[in-house]
Amino acid sequence: MTAGGISIPAPWKRRLLEYELLAPLPASLVQTLRLLKDQRSSVHDLIKVLQYDPAVTADILKLCNSPYYGLSRNVSSLKESLLLIGTNELHRMIHTLVAKRLFERNFHGYEEEKGELWRHSLAAAMIGEELQKVVPRLEIDLFTTALLHDVGKIVLDSEVKKCQGEIEALLEDKELSFSDAETKVLGINHAVAGAYLLERWHLPEPLVEAVLYHHSPGEQAPSSPALYASLANVLAHLLGFSASKDALLTKGYPDLYKAVGIQESDLEKILARSLDKIHDTLESLLSTQEKE
Ligand SMILES: [Fe+2]
Ligand SMILES: [Fe+2]
Repeated sequence: MTAGGISIPAPWKRRLLEYELLAPLPASLVQTLRLLKDQRSSVHDLIKVLQYDPAVTADILKLCNSPYYGLSRNVSSLKESLLLIGTNELHRMIHTLVAKRLFERNFHGYEEEKGELWRHSLAAAMIGEELQKVVPRLEIDLFTTALLHDVGKIVLDSEVKKCQGEIEALLEDKELSFSDAETKVLGINHAVAGAYLLERWHLPEPLVEAVLYHHSPGEQAPSSPALYASLANVLAHLLGFSASKDALLTKGYPDLYKAVGIQESDLEKILARSLDKIHDTLESLLSTQEKE
């Protein structure tokens, strides 16, 4: 990463910009993220924005009432839910909903059926959250970092689909990772494209850097957040959330968990706890979707 930010080939800058114009996030989510950054905003301001988006409101209520939050009573209003979970949790929740909107379609370039990338991202986020509990203090929130690690796929998917033959041919060389093949064929890979987007959306620099290197953690220092983002990604694949070729040959694996100093026995506990949370959250959000 350079001091001036992520550098990407000029034609891709234009395409990524076009993408942002064509597929904006729901206005309510963008406004909410802005308000959450503003120290002066109140729960009242947040409610004013969110109450006009029934789909987002329904998702928030569903999440609040899911076993993941373990609240002692059922929550039936937006105000009640925001007061109970607090601003930090709301921040995470809004990120989760942003990711749901971004990732729930199919991504055929990456051989991911409808909902598969969304489930993969959520699984990585839940694993990231569990990893954060057992690793030394990190300057990033691993939940959000892991949730957004594959965001570059949303812009590269159609190009990857068009060039699938060329990419497949390169992958026959077993030394090459999927992201290496993307770079060779397209001049960019989804890790770089994602980091570029996140930088434009003003996400914190360590988070952007973790996304940038999530497929090349071996080149990073042992304390780099990229190692954790990479580990969360690999473990999400390992738990069966996405069988995309993107999982192939992430450099630095399989010794990634050792590199971050996690014992094998702790890893098993992390995976078991994550799996329960993933199922609870997916169940809550999918039941909202069925009613929409
Ligand atoms: Fe990836
Ligand atoms: Fe991934």
